[in-house]
Amino acid sequence: MNKFKRAVDFLRKAEKIAVLTGAGVSAESGVPTFRGRGGLWKKYRAEELATPEAFERDPILVWKFYDYRRQLISKVNPNKSHEILAKWETLFEKITIVTQNIDGLHQRAGSKNVIELHGNIWEARCIKENKVFRYKENPISEFPPKCPDCGSLIRPNVVWFGESLNQNILNFSFSLFEKSDLALVIGTSSVVYPAAHLPILTKKSGGKIMEINIEETSLTILSDIFLKGKASEILKVIDSLI
Ligand code: APR
Repeated sequence: MNKFKRAVDFLRKAEKIAVLTGAGVSAESGVPTFRGRGGLWKKYRAEELATPEAFERDPILVWKFYDYRRQLISKVNPNKSHEILAKWETLFEKITIVTQNIDGLHQRAGSKNVIELHGNIWEARCIKENKVFRYKENPISEFPPKCPDCGSLIRPNVVWFGESLNQNILNFSFSLFEKSDLALVIGTSSVVYPAAHLPILTKKSGGKIMEINIEETSLTILSDIFLKGKASEILKVIDSLI
C-alpha cells in the first residue's frame, strides 16, 4: 500500500487525532520560518528579540520586531494546509490542533479546536496587571505601547525563549497527545521543547506518528509514516483520497 493510502488508513482508523503544527505550515502563506533558509533566526538574533532579558533591555527594539512581524502577517492569508485542516474538523470526530505558530492563521481558516502553545501575536499582556487583551493596532503608533487601563508597559502575549508555557495549556496538550492514537506532525523542526515532546507521548501510549515535512527532522526516525514534501501538497493528496 503506498504511503498516501497508509496515511488515509491511519486517519480513518484513528479515534482521536492530535495535530502539532509549526512554522512550516504557514511558510506557504509567506510567513518566514525560524530555522530554515531565510528563517527569522538566520537574519535576527533570537536572544536580542525574543527573550525576557531582551525586552527588559530594549522594549522598543522588541516591539519594533513584533510590529514588523504583525504587519507581515496582516498581509498574508491562510493557505491550503490551514484550509484542509479546518475542513477535517468536519470529517473527523475528534481532531485538535496544537500549534506553535502565533499567527492565528488556523483560526482564520476556520479551525475551531486550536490550542496556541506559544501565544498569539495579536494579543498583548500588561506587565503590571498581567491582563491579556487583543491588541490589533497595525502598524503600532507608539513605542513602546502602553496598557490602555493603567498606562504600564505591555508586552506581546507570546512565549519567549527561557519562559515557561502556560501550565494549563501544557497540561491539556500533554493529556491530548497521550490520549490520541494518531499524532499528525506538520512543518516543525521538532527542536523546541516541550512542543517537540508531544508526539512522543502519543507513541508512548501506543499511538502512531505521521510526519509531514520538506526534510527529515529528529522526529522522523520515530514516525510511522514520513511524508516528504510541502504541507499543502501532501495534505491535498491525502484529502483527495479520504
Ligand atoms: N511544508 C512542510 N514543512 C515545511 C515547509 C513546507 N512548505 N516549509 C518549511 N518546512 C519545515 C522545515 O523543514 C522545518 O522543519 O518546517 C519546519 C520549520 O522549523 P522552524 O523554523 O524551526 O519552526 P518551528 O519548528 O515552528 O519552531 C518552533 O521555535 O523559534 C521558536 O517559538 C518559535 O514556535 C517556534 C518554535
